[in-house]
Amino acid sequence: MDTVKVGLLGFGTVGTGVVRNLQINRELLQQRLHRDLVLTRIATRDVNRDRGVELEPGVLTSDIDEVIANPEIDIVIELIGGDEPAKSYILKAIANGKHIVTANKALMAVHGQEIIAAADQQGVSVMFEAAVAGGIPIISAIKENLCSNKFSSVLGILNGTCNFILTKMSQEGSDFAPVLQEAQDLGYAEADPTFDIEGVDTAHKIALLAALCFGTSVDFDKIYTEGISKVSAIDIQFAEQMGYTVKLLAIGKNHDDQIEVRVHPTMIPKTYQLAQINGVFNAVRLIGDFAGPTLLYGSGAGMDATASAVMGDVMAVSRDLTTGGKPRVPILGYNADAIRNLPIMEMGEVVSHYYLRFTTADQTSVLAKISGCLGNHDISIQSMLQPEVREINSVSIVIMTHEAKEADINAALAEIEQLDVVLQPTCLIRVENAPL
Ligand code: NDP
Ligand code: HSE
Repeated sequence: MDTVKVGLLGFGTVGTGVVRNLQINRELLQQRLHRDLVLTRIATRDVNRDRGVELEPGVLTSDIDEVIANPEIDIVIELIGGDEPAKSYILKAIANGKHIVTANKALMAVHGQEIIAAADQQGVSVMFEAAVAGGIPIISAIKENLCSNKFSSVLGILNGTCNFILTKMSQEGSDFAPVLQEAQDLGYAEADPTFDIEGVDTAHKIALLAALCFGTSVDFDKIYTEGISKVSAIDIQFAEQMGYTVKLLAIGKNHDDQIEVRVHPTMIPKTYQLAQINGVFNAVRLIGDFAGPTLLYGSGAGMDATASAVMGDVMAVSRDLTTGGKPRVPILGYNADAIRNLPIMEMGEVVSHYYLRFTTADQTSVLAKISGCLGNHDISIQSMLQPEVREINSVSIVIMTHEAKEADINAALAEIEQLDVVLQPTCLIRVENAPL
């Protein structure tokens, strides 16, 4: 049987999953491809560590050039992660005519344009399905099955580690630190887990999805990014009492002359489908002008689910190779000359409902003072909660607002924090009440 030769860079969590898939499903892959996928070389730093999989002698190497400059290899899978040296290795492999499959969202979100330009010039593919939402085939859904749609929004839970932590905090009352450690032990977290918990990984993913959905470059540095490290157990409890769940949401909306792209903890009604997405699972909701809303759901991280996405790309490239070698679908799903440069909406312009928790002195007329400041900025109150729980000398007041502009909220909060009855900075969580 004819072969396609594959080289792997990085033999960690996902790399090991890819090797397992190639071994366990070898016959199935042959049946679906009509060719044999042969793993020719794996380059990794430590060639002595046991990864729990058997390899043919001579496959493992610490010399990167045995993969990226190997004339036998057709497809290079990059699973090292991060900017450098992954970027240089990919660019060298492209220069050597290799097709690329990567799970590296950090690299593609920030340096994607340079990599895609190099690949287009060489006429090779760059595939990155595994970079967004683990095993969910979201990128091929946008680029292929739903490509006749103009998308007005893409929104979702895109980080398995954060969803795992928030689920355990809300359902089991767990503390943050041990659950993060559990997510790391399960292979869900990034090499630097602050990328997960501070929302950076989610921002990388929504940057890619916004580019793919709206056909625009996305300036990663302009994405408002807030993670879950400041979400407290008390806010999760109050959310619960008010009928909401807290999720780390990535939100992308197309306003035609600009795009809205933001990442932050968000309260959503418990009755929404996205509120039921728990643990390491992710979900992405697209709204297309013909398909309407589509929700894709599946494992957002982990060895096997991510390997499934990587191998889907390897199979797609291998099929292109079988039919002549030219990539069938543009890398971002649009012809290069059709990609725009839309700006990202300023956060102050964003309109949302808001959950505000004030810590105040336990005395009369506090509420009147706070609501007065909100009124000064045309912010109206939708509901209010004054929980029984009292700290010594302080109380919490929770207010849910109607829709308001973020700039007005910020101005009102600046005024409120000048009040002598307000004892601590206000806790703010955005609320998504539009049907999800
Ligand atoms: P790991 O840290 O488990 O694996 C990284 C691998 O890269 C290790 O085997 C390491 O080598 C190797 N490596 C690091 N630096 C070099 C180098 N300079 N030269 C050669 N090899 C090197 O990461 P993951 O497998 O978890 O992630 C890989 C990629 O997949 C990342 O981009 C990540 O964001 C992405 N991803 C991960 C998911 C997950 O669930 N884990 C899900 C979706 C995407 P050694 O072991 O020899 O030290
Ligand atoms: N660290 C990422 C997550 C891996 O937890 O979602 C999958 O991209």
